[in-house]
Amino acid sequence: MRNIPHSAIQEAKAILQDAHRIAVLTGAGMSAESGVPTYRDAQTGLWEKYSPEQLATREAMSNQPELVWSWILHQARVMRSVQPHEGHKALGRWQKQLDANGGALEIVTQNIDDLHERAGAEVLAHLHGTTFTFRCFECDAPSDYVLEDATEEQLEARPELDQMVLEEPPACHSCSHGFIRPDIVMFGELLPQQAMDDALEAVRTADVALVVGTSNIVQPAASLPIAASAAGAKVIEVNPNVTPLTEDVDVYINGTARNVLPELH
Ligand code: APR
Repeated sequence: MRNIPHSAIQEAKAILQDAHRIAVLTGAGMSAESGVPTYRDAQTGLWEKYSPEQLATREAMSNQPELVWSWILHQARVMRSVQPHEGHKALGRWQKQLDANGGALEIVTQNIDDLHERAGAEVLAHLHGTTFTFRCFECDAPSDYVLEDATEEQLEARPELDQMVLEEPPACHSCSHGFIRPDIVMFGELLPQQAMDDALEAVRTADVALVVGTSNIVQPAASLPIAASAAGAKVIEVNPNVTPLTEDVDVYINGTARNVLPELH
């Protein structure tokens, strides 16, 4: 296959065929070939003027609720409209096979989309939350707000932030003075403790950590491959670009999630 280093694939397969427990750690690159722009590769268009670090914060949502809500909604609509690719599907099949043989393939993702689930895989931990459930920005009460499918027009709009048609965040029905926000982890907020505990347990008990499509710079997610290695797991990285982790992994596969993952299983 074009551009995939076969020797690295063979090396990875040799390691994976003896593995009973695999922890798969995914980032935005996992969803890129489905059509969700990654964070750090996409500092153009929608992202040119504002970075996620500026907009996905409590402070920004408090100061400019309509702007942040509309931006989040646009992202969620894009994520809802795209489909899982062959890499997601390969993980789903692989997980079922290992399950049936008494092993485990545990997926820990930084992604707030649901592409793994829609490809038939179970996700152990969404470290940065999920964009399809909501709670109150003030009182934290869960909301029953349901995200409607986007119209073609909304999806094609790909607006610049300063030209975006702004929508008001819906009011909270519990406290009546707050508005709702998605269950994502904003910058400066703590990760959900259970998700982080589950992720740590998964990497500490894994024979192999397979790290796919993350720049490995956002903590604490970036510490997970290191924890896996310290506990004795082999670490395999799949990414078309090197990251700060690359020089420490056992096998680096220079390729994309959609091309490489079906080759590994
Ligand atoms: N297949 C695999 N990897 C890819 C692909 C692909 N098709 N396309 C891009 N990549 C890689 C890039 O080379 C990069 O290393 O995916 C990585 C994406 O990096 P980021 O955009 O930084 O995404 P991620 O590591 O998930 O970011 C972590 O930062 O902004 C926050 O909360 C947000 O969860 C996100 C976190």
